[in-house]
Amino acid sequence: MDPGSDGTTKLMASKYEKILLKNMEQPGYTGSLQDYEKAGGYQALRKVLGGIPPDEVIDIVKRSGLRGRGGAGFPTGVKWGFIPKDHPGPRFLCCNADESEPGTFKDRQLMERDPHQVLEGMIITCYAIRASLAYIYIRGEFRLAAKILERAIREARAAGYLGSRILGSELDVQIHVHAGAGAYICGEETALLESLEGKRGLPRFKPPFPATHGLYQKPTVVNNVETLANIPHIIMRGAEWYASIGSPPKSTGTRVFCLSGHVKRPGNYELPMGTTFRELIFEHGGGMRGEKPLKAFIPGGASAPFLTPDHLDVKMDFESVAMAGSMLGSGGVTVMEEGTSMVWAALRLMEFFYHESCGKCTPCREGSSWLVQILQRIWQGEGRMSDLDLLVDLCKNIEGRTVCAFGDAEVAPILSTLRYWRSEYEELIARAEASRSSKKELPVVA
Ligand SMILES: Cc1cc2nc3c(=O)[nH]c(=O)nc-3n(C[C@H](O)[C@H](O)[C@H](O)COP(=O)(O)O)c2cc1C
Repeated sequence: MDPGSDGTTKLMASKYEKILLKNMEQPGYTGSLQDYEKAGGYQALRKVLGGIPPDEVIDIVKRSGLRGRGGAGFPTGVKWGFIPKDHPGPRFLCCNADESEPGTFKDRQLMERDPHQVLEGMIITCYAIRASLAYIYIRGEFRLAAKILERAIREARAAGYLGSRILGSELDVQIHVHAGAGAYICGEETALLESLEGKRGLPRFKPPFPATHGLYQKPTVVNNVETLANIPHIIMRGAEWYASIGSPPKSTGTRVFCLSGHVKRPGNYELPMGTTFRELIFEHGGGMRGEKPLKAFIPGGASAPFLTPDHLDVKMDFESVAMAGSMLGSGGVTVMEEGTSMVWAALRLMEFFYHESCGKCTPCREGSSWLVQILQRIWQGEGRMSDLDLLVDLCKNIEGRTVCAFGDAEVAPILSTLRYWRSEYEELIARAEASRSSKKELPVVA
């Protein structure tokens, strides 16, 4: 099928049943409480309060196979199960709405366009883990989303879905919105907790994990916005229904893929896990924006190693992308056309990581600056062939040697571009070396 016309877009849009983007794509849907209730909202909360014990809710989420949508893909029900049952309290839920990974913009849409879906997911999660206080840690720049969430919280409170004795039950839940100040590291769950506590956002050593020593050293679940938005649907339609979607048994459900870069129709596309990159880019995204063919793509946010046109038929599920040498990560798919310099792309991403390195770990703090300097000199025509081994050596001394996964993330663009497009680095350096030696040969004019 050759996509591109509006008609085809509509056809592709209806190919799969949407779960998370369904409401917001209905004509006239505003995301208000009234609209959400009309679409069946808060029925899942009524259902659990009507007689599903907390542990059974955890079991349902475990059986659904839902895995975290923030990046690491940890099984959500298993994470909830780690919260100690005998802890006297308090326990906390933190919704990770930092969405700081470049190329990722789904959480913002979920919060702005259907905020009650996120809130209902959070209230049910609080019920399951027996928490009565929850925070939404939202990226500082998301002012509109924060405002919309505040309004939704007020609406939910007035309707009895939030606050004390929710819908006449024993359940008490308060949700607060807390805006960050725009630091990539604050998306990392333990740096997020530090920041929420009012400290500088630096990652903590793990273990202990947040499940036992989280916010204020109390048991805490940190979940991504998209992860939590799935919960009401799993409760309403059942674990088996959810587990049958996507690539069971390990990658179930849908995923909101954020498509960006050199494609005709960038945007958020909710597709079953296991859909191929080719289908996302060439059917839903309408293919390349111009005449040039696809050269490279990042499959899961800036931290994920680049892939090539040979990987277009890889399925977008956790296992398949890992087998291809990368990761599904945050679901941000960035496409680059032929003619894009991969040395430039690596430099651009490395500049971002250097800027965002929090400085806690020496290999990342010092190494990111060295990596930028070496890439800059290669790009500016001042590189040496020995720089390539130096880049790899530096990357290997950062990878796996930092407190959080930031270190692994920042070396991914360099190592993967060197793997697939080493000749581009070599050409730039060869040209630089040739120009240097021709300058040396110039006669000295007295
Ligand atoms: C450097 C770094 C940045 C991260 N940024 C985010 C983020 O912006 N949003 C997010 O949900 N998870 C982010 N994560 C992952 C979180 O640490 C954590 O795994 C996630 O919030 C857990 O929720 P989930 O299980 O629902 O995915 C980041 C991780 C690292 C190492």
